[in-house]
Amino acid sequence: MSESAASAEFARAAVCTRSGDEIAIVDLEIADPRADEILVRVVAAGVCHTDLTSRAFWPDALMPMVFGHEGAGVVEAVGGDVTDVAVGAHVVMSFRSCGDCAACVSGHPGYCDQFVLMNASGGRPDGTTALSINGSPVHGSFFGQSCFATHAMAHRDNVVVIDDSIDLVTAAPFGCSVQTGAGTVLNVLRPASGSTLAVFGAGSVGLAAVMAAVALDVTVIAVDPIAERRNLSRELGAEAAFDPSQCDVVEQIHTVAPAGVDVAIDTTAVGTVIDQAVASLGVGGRLALVGVGAPELSVSMPALMSKGRSVVGVIEGDSVPSQFLPELLAMHRDGRLPVERLITTYSFDDIEDALAQSADGTVVKAVIDFSAVSSKPGRA
Ligand SMILES: NC(=O)c1ccc[n+]([C@@H]2O[C@H](COP(=O)([O-])OP(=O)(O)OC[C@H]3O[C@@H](n4cnc5c(N)ncnc54)[C@H](O)[C@@H]3O)[C@@H](O)[C@H]2O)c1
Ligand SMILES: [Zn+2]
Ligand SMILES: [Zn+2]
Repeated sequence: MSESAASAEFARAAVCTRSGDEIAIVDLEIADPRADEILVRVVAAGVCHTDLTSRAFWPDALMPMVFGHEGAGVVEAVGGDVTDVAVGAHVVMSFRSCGDCAACVSGHPGYCDQFVLMNASGGRPDGTTALSINGSPVHGSFFGQSCFATHAMAHRDNVVVIDDSIDLVTAAPFGCSVQTGAGTVLNVLRPASGSTLAVFGAGSVGLAAVMAAVALDVTVIAVDPIAERRNLSRELGAEAAFDPSQCDVVEQIHTVAPAGVDVAIDTTAVGTVIDQAVASLGVGGRLALVGVGAPELSVSMPALMSKGRSVVGVIEGDSVPSQFLPELLAMHRDGRLPVERLITTYSFDDIEDALAQSADGTVVKAVIDFSAVSSKPGRA
């Protein structure tokens, strides 16, 4: 039996029963944590575009399913082998990784051999799930959490303890989108102070990249058709922001960086935008792809070869969450990563609005605030 402050055998969860359909908030049972698991009372859950894409394309065979992978909360119970995370600790949940494969051992857990199995198979790697309704399994373990619920079953390898003083609503998006955008800048592209970066798509991932690059004294150019997002990127320190529907973006970027930009990031996963990103690079320029969309991409070889440009794909900012999230939270504390500027909060009952308004671009980062939800809906 696990150590437990108060056994939470029931959770209220946003359950999706068919791809693309609305979700229903229902009570379900959640198992006691296994030896290496951590049960978290979710206080806040960010909505990432990957939740929307996954909900739209999730196989019916893995329904019903609970999504959500930017959770922050308070540890409610830990398994017997968990000795370094205490009940009551404040935590951010991130992605899972095996810790043993070549990628994990070399410090690149985003490229773990087991990534899909551990984060997007609808259950634990052994095929079981901690969630059920009246004895029937409910799929979960999305990014080792499925945090669109009052409680999430996480694992020792994807929980990062944070200081109690940090606002959990602000902390939640650090687990995926902030780490992805900021990590792509700080861990992968690593632009020098005074160099130039173009960010295509100023959503939560793109704006996290903007903030991280501004913190490095990089000149940032943002591209997004949504005026509010362009304005926000400027307020966050971008030198210029262009509307791709109103101008020749590549030409405009060259007015700011005449020789082309040193580095670029695409968060749109749209082929024509990726072509623009490549064309905006100068000699030796590097483009990082982080958007998830069409599985195939064609890039002009002459466009790459004639200027020695390169393109790299990046998962989760190529970060080690246990090390990187504390660094990012320290940047936030120092005012260099004002993630709260991106956030709009929603009650759990309004989660469908949060998903819809994330999808249509009305809000940048929706965060579900669970503080008004009874933490033990099924129990007195
Ligand atoms: N690689 C990873 O590890 C990782 C992690 C998190 C999210 N993602 C993916 O990153 C992408 C971005 O996530 P997000 O939450 O910021 O999504 P988002 O939808 O908020 O951001 C995408 C932005 O692209 C803009 N856009 C649309 N058309 C454009 C165009 N022609 N030119 C420039 N911009 C254009 C949109 O207006 C929007 O602001 C998603 O595909 C998401 O699934 C990847
Ligand atoms: Zn691994
Ligand atoms: Zn995500």
